[in-house]
Amino acid sequence: MLDSLKIEIMRKTKIINGFKHIKYTGPKYTNETMEQKSLEFYELMNQRRTIRDLSNKPIKKTIIDRLIQTASTAPSGANKQPWTFCAISCVSLKKKIRIAAEKEEKENYNHRMPDQWLNDLKPMATDWFKPFLVDAPWLIVVFKQAYDLDHNEKQNNYYVNESVGIACGILITAIHQAGLVTLPHTPSPMNFLTKILNRPKNERPYLLLPVGYAADHAYAPDLKRKSLRKVAIYY
Ligand SMILES: Cc1cc2nc3c(=O)[nH]c(=O)nc-3n(C[C@H](O)[C@H](O)[C@H](O)COP(=O)(O)O)c2cc1C
Repeated sequence: MLDSLKIEIMRKTKIINGFKHIKYTGPKYTNETMEQKSLEFYELMNQRRTIRDLSNKPIKKTIIDRLIQTASTAPSGANKQPWTFCAISCVSLKKKIRIAAEKEEKENYNHRMPDQWLNDLKPMATDWFKPFLVDAPWLIVVFKQAYDLDHNEKQNNYYVNESVGIACGILITAIHQAGLVTLPHTPSPMNFLTKILNRPKNERPYLLLPVGYAADHAYAPDLKRKSLRKVAIYY
């Protein structure tokens, strides 16, 4: 091997365009280990379900911290990390959120949702009643930052929906991996969350995730996931 290439491989950092780059030290596995790990992870994630009956058993804040930190490892357009995770355990705030969410959901179920939508929701057995918003020990409300206000100056964010969507996916994965449950809740329109949580003008509510243990009596609809054949096309 060329000496210069050897030096390059051993170097921990280098400067490109005036910016420091650090050597990638992520995991590398043998094919066998990779097969095993990917199968195990699929089996773990295939057990994930949206659970709407949550117990009120408390969860330590340090665990919520870690889940949010994990979500915040998500990739984002130009690394803008355009998300804010509001974690709420305060009982009176959860009650306020439940009242406001149920008001919107009552309208949605009784007047706004077309028949086809209501029909599609039938297997989920959902309605406007949302007790999980107070039963869950924590609510995480994810806000997207439409633009950046870090230095009190408006700066662009890029691919905000994609970035925040990926962060939410990682959060849901982390919640499941920790042995907890959640449900992606969208009591639209969700502007009431901006008001209740007093968020700045650059933030928009994106997703509400109650986090807790599954209640002992929790059931999930017997839904089927599409087969690999149906969702993947190989070229
Ligand atoms: C963007 C999004 C919004 C959702 N909104 C709601 C909601 O407001 N209320 C609810 O009970 N479930 C909601 N869900 C959960 C879906 O109904 C659920 O993911 C789907 O039925 C599949 O079930 P599973 O998550 O158990 O696989 C939402 C899911 C997503 C991805």
